[in-house]
Amino acid sequence: FSERQGPKPLTGRRAVVTSGPTHEPIDPVRYIANRSSGKQGHAVAAALAALGADVTLVSGPVTLAHPPGVRVVRVETAAEMLAASQAALQAPDGPADIAVCAAAVADWRVAAAAGDKVKKGPDGPPTLTLAENPDILATLSQAGPARPRLVVGFAAETRDVLAYAAAKLAKKGCDWIVANDVATGTGTFGGDDNQVHLLRRGAAPEAPLVETWPRLSKTEVAARLAQAIADTLSPHTA
Ligand code: CTP
Ligand code: CA
Repeated sequence: FSERQGPKPLTGRRAVVTSGPTHEPIDPVRYIANRSSGKQGHAVAAALAALGADVTLVSGPVTLAHPPGVRVVRVETAAEMLAASQAALQAPDGPADIAVCAAAVADWRVAAAAGDKVKKGPDGPPTLTLAENPDILATLSQAGPARPRLVVGFAAETRDVLAYAAAKLAKKGCDWIVANDVATGTGTFGGDDNQVHLLRRGAAPEAPLVETWPRLSKTEVAARLAQAIADTLSPHTA
């Protein structure tokens, strides 16, 4: 099955992966959400598990099967995703080693969701007042002693991909950003392929080290990312 000798490279490492969209309720039957199939995040969880990591996948609403060998916590909202991620990171045996935030978190929620279904009426459409959601990636990156050793974010951009991704790396305080171009026509949303750049924090946060990967299946992107994580946490000594 594997040609690798001895234990898998991430055996004994704990990882938390966020995936999928979040749903922010407007009322009991309506919500605000981002586009996300969860395919890339679920593939990352599976790839880390395949290298031996103990993986908790915190997943928003998706139609995907649970990846094999992965603990899955299902959530709906950004607030629930943050709480579940923090709970998974703060296991009794200390902080997890790896956090990968691949979820497409809704940036805003409705400040006061209605308890009953909002009805159409003579006054016209309702006005929604929005509140900003917590930034899960930034919160985990700045978690002090509870911070995982390696925190990885994703950045989906429609233009100026590298510049926006570098700015996110600097602002959020994560170690790596996997950036992809989601402009119309690139076909990454819901598709099976992804073309990404891996940005690693360099000496200066605004000048990251950039690796551009070829167009690959989301499974292959996940496998490469998991291998890069393993190489960083347990460098080859042979
Ligand atoms: N992210 C998060 N929590 C949020 C918003 C984003 O954890 N509330 C994470 C995503 O999972 C991703 C990274 O932050 O790993 C970048 O998400 P993105 O939406 O590209 O960045 P934002 O900071 O929300 O900026 P904007 O949407 O304005 O481009
Ligand atoms: Ca966002």
